[in-house]
Amino acid sequence: MICVRKIREAFPIYKNHPQLVYLDSAASALKLNKVKESINYYYDNLNTNVYRGDYDLGYQTTTLFEATREEVAQFINADKQEIVFTKGTTEGINLVANHFSSILKEGDEIIISELEHHTNFIPWQIVAKKTKATIKYVKLTKEGRITVANFLAVLSDKTKIVALNYVSNVMGYLTPLREIIMLAHEKKARVLIDAAQAAPHFKLDVKALKVDYLAFSSHKMFGPTGVGILYLNEQTHQETIPFEYGGEMVLKVDKESAIFKDAPYKFEAGTPPIEGVIAFKEAIKFFNKIDYSSIREHTKMLHEYTLKKLKELKEVKVYNPHNEIGLITFNIDGVHPHDAMTIFAKNKVYLRAGQHCAEPITKFLGEMATLRASFHIYNDFNDCDKLVASIKETIAFFKQFRGEKK
Ligand SMILES: Cc1ncc(COP(=O)(O)O)c(C=O)c1O
Repeated sequence: MICVRKIREAFPIYKNHPQLVYLDSAASALKLNKVKESINYYYDNLNTNVYRGDYDLGYQTTTLFEATREEVAQFINADKQEIVFTKGTTEGINLVANHFSSILKEGDEIIISELEHHTNFIPWQIVAKKTKATIKYVKLTKEGRITVANFLAVLSDKTKIVALNYVSNVMGYLTPLREIIMLAHEKKARVLIDAAQAAPHFKLDVKALKVDYLAFSSHKMFGPTGVGILYLNEQTHQETIPFEYGGEMVLKVDKESAIFKDAPYKFEAGTPPIEGVIAFKEAIKFFNKIDYSSIREHTKMLHEYTLKKLKELKEVKVYNPHNEIGLITFNIDGVHPHDAMTIFAKNKVYLRAGQHCAEPITKFLGEMATLRASFHIYNDFNDCDKLVASIKETIAFFKQFRGEKK
């Protein structure tokens, strides 16, 4: 059982904003004190670049930086050289898409879905335009889920890359990946998984999944912004071309050509976000201490509690009552989500309004925009109550505004 009061002590924002009702962790999670301390430690004590400085502070920086690679590798059951530091899920996916933009040809097929975040959508549209490859969409169920059967219906000998979310950022659904990956591999297609929303709620195991590429972001896991992980399995190391070129990713350069280092370094050109990478280790350690089943138990409890209260409000429509991370995506009858947000924000109840960088799924729901409340370990029943109270206030305000009876 999670003790929220104790958990909140680890997140400094609650000291400065004791009234904060933060229900937007799916956009970016709150940051740990230990993460902040680690960043400060770097600036106060190390302040040097990685790999370059032939002096003690330079060595210490490189050692700490590489220790995060080791920590992340253990965390997701990968080998150290399979971990590439990026600036986030977006950069990781663009790196992979860039590679496919140089190898796909007319007639090849890319499988994605309408459930994808724009990050795993637009890059593939660009790849398809550039290479004349075709995008195939996994048909979603009425509820909006990806199923193995619907995936099989679009899989073919022409499929070269399958790029799907592990957990949807709008619906909170878990994609049945193990079977999908196995089936894709039977067709010799590569698989990329967008794990941005999965990593904060599910233990990732890349060996069990047998996935080729997997991307996630530190900032959704209580870590710093500007840091992400791209996992590439050893087989894809050789074939995948770098996304960026520059310092520290080369072994040898002359006027005619350059020889790149082996992975992961060939994918890490230029100076990385050193302090962020070092501090991300603290976030991983935190996840190692709190096991994922207690995170899910906690968010499920808050989810069920809130849903029960929302069911009593006929003006509220919830689009995803059953999902695996406890997201509540909803609308209030006759109220635009951004208008509702002005009332929520006045009450310091922070959630997300809009299309959540996933326009296709919002359209699939038949909406222009929605509201999304997302829970994590620092939320409690009081947060749920304040959300429900703000929804009631919004309903009452707009009824009065329209001259309707309360
Ligand atoms: C499912 C999903 N994919 C990708 C991203 C993009 O992540 P980032 O902005 O950290 O690169 C997000 C962020 O909200 C997301 O929810």
